[in-house]
Order: sequence, then C-alpha cells, then structure tokens
Amino acid sequence: MRLITTTHDLGAALRAQRGAGRSLGLVPTMGALHAGHRSLIERSRALDDVVAVSIFVNPSQFNDPTDFERYPRSIEADLELAGDAGADLVFAPEPTEMYPGREAIIRVDPGVLGNGLEGSSRPGHFSGVATVVTKLFAMFGATRAYFGEKDYEQLMLVRRLAIDLSFAVEVVGCATVREQDGLALSSRNLRLSPAQRGAAPVLYRALIAARDLLEAGGSVELASEVMHRSLAKEPLCVVRYAEVRDANSLEPPGAESRDLRVLVAASFGEVRLIDNVAARLSDTSS
Ligand code: PAJ
Repeated sequence: MRLITTTHDLGAALRAQRGAGRSLGLVPTMGALHAGHRSLIERSRALDDVVAVSIFVNPSQFNDPTDFERYPRSIEADLELAGDAGADLVFAPEPTEMYPGREAIIRVDPGVLGNGLEGSSRPGHFSGVATVVTKLFAMFGATRAYFGEKDYEQLMLVRRLAIDLSFAVEVVGCATVREQDGLALSSRNLRLSPAQRGAAPVLYRALIAARDLLEAGGSVELASEVMHRSLAKEPLCVVRYAEVRDANSLEPPGAESRDLRVLVAASFGEVRLIDNVAARLSDTSS
C-alpha cells in the first residue's frame, strides 16, 4: 500500500491507473479508523480495481475549534487498518496541501441541505463537508465513492452534490457498523469516559423503540415521544434532537411518506454523538 501526502504525487499516481483503464474507489475519512471505515474500504475492494482512502481532519467542517483539536489522530494505526482492509493507496495531506490559500474563499453552498438537523445545530458544518468532498471528487475522479449511513444527512448531501455539480461518480451508501450493545462505531467514542460509554447505547435503544412503533402502525408523534422518554432515562445523555423524517426529502414525514428515517443526536459530557435507523411503513399503514 502506498502513502501519498501531496496533490502532485496523487495526480501522478492516479494518471497511471486511469491510463491503464482501471476503476477507482474512494473512501473519504478523517482517520481514527475503525470497523465502520473498514467496511467501506472492504466494499470498495470488492467492487473497484484500485482502492483509495483519504485521511484528512478537515478544519472547515468543525464549527467548534475544541472539537477539532481533540479529534483523535492515529495515522500509524490507520495505515495498518487501511492496508489490511485492502486499500492500495492512502492520501493523507497536511492542511496546507489541501488549502494552499490557508482557507478556502470559494466554498460550496449546500443550500437547504445545510440547515437540516445536524446543520442547524452546527452552523457551517455541511458547507465545510460539501467543500472538502468536492475537492476530493475533483482530485480523484473516482468511479465510486463510499459513504456511511451512520452520517445519513451527509450521505444525502453527497448524493445530491454529485448530481448538482456533475461529478460522474457513483455514491455508494454503506450500512452502519455497531458494537455488540448497539452503539454505532464512531471515532468520537474514544473520547467517552467509561460511564459515558456505558450510557451511550441508549441512543440505539431509543431509535429501535421508535422504529418498532412506527412499523407497527404508531404515529410519528408517538414515536418521537417514546424516543424522548427512552432517552430521558439516561441522566448522562443530553438530547440535541430526536426526530422522524422522510428518508428521501429529510422533511417531516407527509401522509404519503413510506420510507422514514429516525435520527438522534445527543451529548455525553463534551462528546456529541449521532445515530439513525430506517423505518419502513407498510402500504396499508396511514
Ligand atoms: P468520518 O467521520 O471519518 O467518516 C468517514 C466515513 O465513514 C463516512 O462516510 C462515515 O459515514 C463512515 N462511517 C463512520 N462511522 C461508521 C459506522 N459506524 N458504520 C459505517 N460507516 C461509518 O464523515 C467524515 O469522516 C467526513 O465528514 C468526510 C466525509 C471524510 C469529509 O471530511
């Protein structure tokens, strides 16, 4: 596996692969790789000739500077995991390499997709994500790019970004990988105290309670109530939002909505976690 740190070397490496007519998979990450990231890399290994992973803790998507500083970094272990999962190359640039002008003056505007659940609690976050993903799409010219359902709003934003900005890349959504107790794997889990780690699976339990209720014909209002009640049982959990949305539009569900998404965000001390699950209503439910 090859480690590349400059856009110049990346361009040369990719030109050689493209010249040979090989398909290219891109797995964008911020490092601190875990089994969730691994599943994306393995999916690419199964579908693409060449598998590339990017590791870049993108400053422009952190609305909280402390969160950026404390974001876990573990490049040595990351390279080992990426290689073991089947990556051919890892692109790990310094911030000055990604943003030679120090900060991007020209940024990608995610429009209404920037003001959803995560967006409204983290101003500027999705513009930072959209900007860096656009740069990565432009640099790599990948055949496919892999994103996790764990960050559901991000996945929807990236799908739309590829359409609206005419990137000929297939965006592949990948299922959320969880711990045995249901907690979604996240690089931020490393920052939880033992007590917070013990409390965090309440998120998944609340999501499942809401999903089961919706799929049994319960109303959206009741599902939200059940979710909030379930989360309130855990004193270490401070709820930021717990909502049911239409899975396609991300708007509050209408009478016609059948594919729903239940989404939650909560803080455990200084660590903010998000999670979501699908809920599919049968055509007979109202
Ligand atoms: P990061 O949080 O490192 O996540 C990289 C990719 O891994 C994302 O597509 C994310 O949804 C996916 N992922 C994270 N945890 C997962 C899990 N438990 N199961 C499955 N997939 C999981 O998301 C970002 O980085 C950044 O915003 C990025 C897209 C790289 C732009 O900077």
